[in-house]
Amino acid sequence: MSYLAIALNFSHDKKNFNCGKQLLDDYLHKQAKQDVKRKLSACFVLLEDESKKIIGYYTLSSTVVQRDLLPEEIVKKLPPSYNDLPATLLGRLAIDNSFQGQGLGELLLVDALKRSYYTSISSVASMAVVVDPIDEAAINFYKKYGFILLPDSGKMFIAMDTITKLS
Ligand SMILES: CC(C)(COP(=O)(O)OP(=O)(O)OC[C@H]1O[C@@H](n2cnc3c(N)ncnc32)[C@H](O)[C@@H]1OP(=O)(O)O)[C@@H](O)C(=O)NCCC(=O)NCCS
Repeated sequence: MSYLAIALNFSHDKKNFNCGKQLLDDYLHKQAKQDVKRKLSACFVLLEDESKKIIGYYTLSSTVVQRDLLPEEIVKKLPPSYNDLPATLLGRLAIDNSFQGQGLGELLLVDALKRSYYTSISSVASMAVVVDPIDEAAINFYKKYGFILLPDSGKMFIAMDTITKLS
């Protein structure tokens, strides 16, 4: 079986996607297409072979991270004048219920991190990927891959430098 992560388009079967988290299901069913149209986020879907069935999806957009939220070992290498640091927001990531537990969440996360990394070195600079985990289980999933909690925000981040070491 081969898998393909591509940009969401009108032909993909959004309405049958179910990851077990209402917010993430509703987003794909009702809002993702509009967000893409308005350039609020980019949405990528994982499809099985050439079929239109969506196995998983993630969204990417630009964000900033405030300097004083970052760990000291990162801050000390930054010029003092930079208070808002450019980053990439991996806003949502989900795998359909019937495909969970088969390594596809990891595959999709790696795809999102690699896409973010290559964009950061080729066109739009970004020093980290930020996620906004939906619950404790999601926090544990991201921790497994080296994401660190940002204080008082509920968000987590991984530095681009760390992503290069993952691949
Ligand atoms: C979180 C989610 C994306 C994981 O996808 P998945 O395909 O089931 O995960 P994988 O099979 O690729 O698992 C990869 C690794 O993460 C671990 N993992 C999976 N879910 C986990 C969780 N909730 N907490 C901790 N670890 C988790 C697996 O055990 C596996 O580790 P291993 O290789 O050491 O066994 C999926 O469960 C999901 O879509 N959940 C609902 C939406 C959600 O919570 N999204 C999170 C971002 S907001």
